[in-house]
Amino acid sequence: MESIYLDHNATTPVDPEVVQAMLPYLSGNFGNASSVHAFGRDGKVALENAREMIASVINCEPSELYFTSGGTESDNIAVLGTAHRFKGRKDHIIVGAAEHHAVLEPAEYLAHSEDFKLDLLPVDGEGFSSPEQLKELVTDRTALVSVMHANNETGTVQDIGGLVEVTHAKNCLFHTDAVQSTGKIKVDVKRMGVDMATITAHKIYGPKGIGGLYVRAGVKVSPLFYGGAHEKKRRPGTENVAGAVGFAKALEIAMRRQEDDFRNMSELADYFIDKVIGSIPDVMLNGPRKNRIPQTMNMSFNGVEGESVVLALDLKGIACSSGSACTSGATEPSHVLKAMGAEAVSAQGAIRFSLGRSTTRDQLDYVISVLPEVIGKLREMSPFYSQQK
Ligand SMILES: Cc1ncc(COP(=O)(O)O)c(C=O)c1O
Repeated sequence: MESIYLDHNATTPVDPEVVQAMLPYLSGNFGNASSVHAFGRDGKVALENAREMIASVINCEPSELYFTSGGTESDNIAVLGTAHRFKGRKDHIIVGAAEHHAVLEPAEYLAHSEDFKLDLLPVDGEGFSSPEQLKELVTDRTALVSVMHANNETGTVQDIGGLVEVTHAKNCLFHTDAVQSTGKIKVDVKRMGVDMATITAHKIYGPKGIGGLYVRAGVKVSPLFYGGAHEKKRRPGTENVAGAVGFAKALEIAMRRQEDDFRNMSELADYFIDKVIGSIPDVMLNGPRKNRIPQTMNMSFNGVEGESVVLALDLKGIACSSGSACTSGATEPSHVLKAMGAEAVSAQGAIRFSLGRSTTRDQLDYVISVLPEVIGKLREMSPFYSQQK
């Protein structure tokens, strides 16, 4: 049985070209980039070349890009680091209701433990937030507004510009989590006007454990770690040279392929969505048909548990994910879908299929062929499913 991987928003395999670019920095050129000798200088040159390459893609100065261990850390630095910087002067933070937990949880921590007031910026039924709604929430006590660029569960691509304008009008800082958009669609931090942006390598065929935070020149955020002068003291710790080299190579490849990949995945996604909706009753697409990263398809199959579908498809060699997080045995519907107003019964039955470069129409046809039976059987056993005719 061929394995079909449709969970590319969770992570991707490392591109062989990326592996080749990284290998020298794992053994021969292993120097510590902060050492002054030749081994160290080799590492430093590779690190700075990688920084330059990535900065040029997102349109910032290399000096504005800090390497981190990934998206989670970058989000935490942006949220906690900004709040700590403004402590005593500002005590309010706004984050999108559909943010990744890497933004939501540090924001909730600030609210529970550091007396910050937290507001969630609502999203509409397709996952979009409006500048008008933000205007009602933002005040001159607000330290930070954080709204993601592309949503990891639904693919919704937010129009960041209008939100930034409202934020800056109150002299507040704006951060965007661009983990799911970087390399897949255009991400230009200057054009978006953001003060900070989070990026990571492993969603675009780069290695895990390396990411970055863009911090606009002049913006000050407190570090989370202490103990070294690396990354201008914003992120101390021996630099991950091989990771940075891999990240730069992965982004270079992603940019080279961006247009073709976008077109191919749009075609495949449209095909898949239409076929699934056409062959199974009571299915809906969560998120917009347009203004989305096309590789993300989130669908609700009413009356079934998403986790059960994931397990049943796994037995058939298909890897996908459910939008729900399994906490102490109980499946909680996704906070993203709840924020979009989905009813519990459809949020509970949500499945995310995320496409990648290796996805073929034959693979999707196989999924399309097995899905009706899988869903049908689970619905037969479901006390919640009563088909309305
Ligand atoms: C939108 C978003 N932000 C942040 C993260 C966390 O990134 P990392 O896995 O690099 O820590 C993810 C990963 O799932 C994500 O999808």
